[in-house]
Amino acid sequence: MNGIDRDDRSMIDGSIYDDRLHEELAAAASRGPTAVDANTGALTVLRHHDVDVLAHDRRLEGLGLSVFDMLGIGDGPLRSWYGQLMFTTEGDTHGRLRRLVQIAFTPRSVERLRSDVAEQVRLRTDRLIADGGGDLIDTFSRLPTWTMCQLIGVPSDDVAQFGEWLDALSPVFGFMDPEQIDAASAAIVQLSEYVGRLVDDRRTTPGDTLVDDLIAASEEGERLDREELVAMVANLLVGGHDTTESQLWCTLLTLLRHEAELNRLRSDPSLVPSAVSEAMRFEPAITVIPRTVPVALELLDAHVASGAFVMLSTAAANRDPAVWDRPDDLDISRFSAPGAAKLLSFGAGPHYCLGANLARLTLEEAVGGIRAVDGLRPAADPWQVAWTQVLGRAPVELPVVVS
Ligand code: HEM
Repeated sequence: MNGIDRDDRSMIDGSIYDDRLHEELAAAASRGPTAVDANTGALTVLRHHDVDVLAHDRRLEGLGLSVFDMLGIGDGPLRSWYGQLMFTTEGDTHGRLRRLVQIAFTPRSVERLRSDVAEQVRLRTDRLIADGGGDLIDTFSRLPTWTMCQLIGVPSDDVAQFGEWLDALSPVFGFMDPEQIDAASAAIVQLSEYVGRLVDDRRTTPGDTLVDDLIAASEEGERLDREELVAMVANLLVGGHDTTESQLWCTLLTLLRHEAELNRLRSDPSLVPSAVSEAMRFEPAITVIPRTVPVALELLDAHVASGAFVMLSTAAANRDPAVWDRPDDLDISRFSAPGAAKLLSFGAGPHYCLGANLARLTLEEAVGGIRAVDGLRPAADPWQVAWTQVLGRAPVELPVVVS
């Protein structure tokens, strides 16, 4: 059992991603600070304070190439790309990549996109209104990809192609089957070729996209070389695609399920940023931060052997009664109150989500667009939904009527 040495430890079913998730985590958290995933044997850390502290703890590392090794992906383009991501690197290598990207990928460069995203949302909600309703998943499909394509200067006509590549690449952060490995390998080759051409074009004809800023980014004479640049752009695209889409579906489902809170939002648009945070707390698409332990250590109430997996359960932390008042209630003004606890859904510490500002912008504009649609309501019982999971968990449909 993956190097966790207590027999009486409470077990959880870490494969649950539908509505039973919260109950499963709450039951485990009531028994102690950690539990063991019955499927993988990974130690799962459940409390807000511990998740926050351990996300900063350098004794724990990201998964690196360990899952690729387990899957037998020993070489090839997918491995060589995956091995140079910020997600898979640590220490100086990770720090250098991250600093260079942060020089270019600033809150300002993200904020420049807001009016374009708002306009894109308006076009989509106008169509929803004209049709008298539809599935919100169709309405906002590929919105995060469209937004990231704007950021890096990819024409709108190519967004659908990018969406296909990114769909094929999203499973790389989990356990892939052979078909997924083949599809992801083909996609990274094609995506890298496209992005490589984009980088070369920008070198000869500079513009004002993130790619231009990444080319220019330097620190004490250090720059990203061409291969790193291409890998980095692909990293941002893959890191932000399924995560933001699936969070958007979770967020919209949450609003459809809580009519009174949606009505509060309708009457007070200033609550949109807080509502976005609260929906991520209440119904997160990404539920864990995965870690490995290179050297055996004592962790909370467990001894963890070297090489073991540890899951920091941000989903459990999001409902920890020690830090959240009435954690099982949705309160869209929670994060606008002074002293609100820290939302851990974007991670914490050295690997804190680099795209958090961009994700928030996309979610805020989509939520802002939906609150402005008069007469929008669920077309079916929103509590009876089927769920799916690739990287993030999400409901499979969100039917609404507009009248
Ligand atoms: C709602 C949407 C999103 C969620 C919930 C999310 C969540 C996360 C989390 C939990 C981490 C930390 C992983 C760890 O510590 O191992 C992370 C890292 C990361 N995210 Fe996001 N993310 C989102 C959107 C985005 C977007 C839009 C981008 C890119 C534009 C992005 C790019 C990244 C990158 C590059 C990292 C790795 C950072 C590092 O290792 O230093 N994410 N994200």
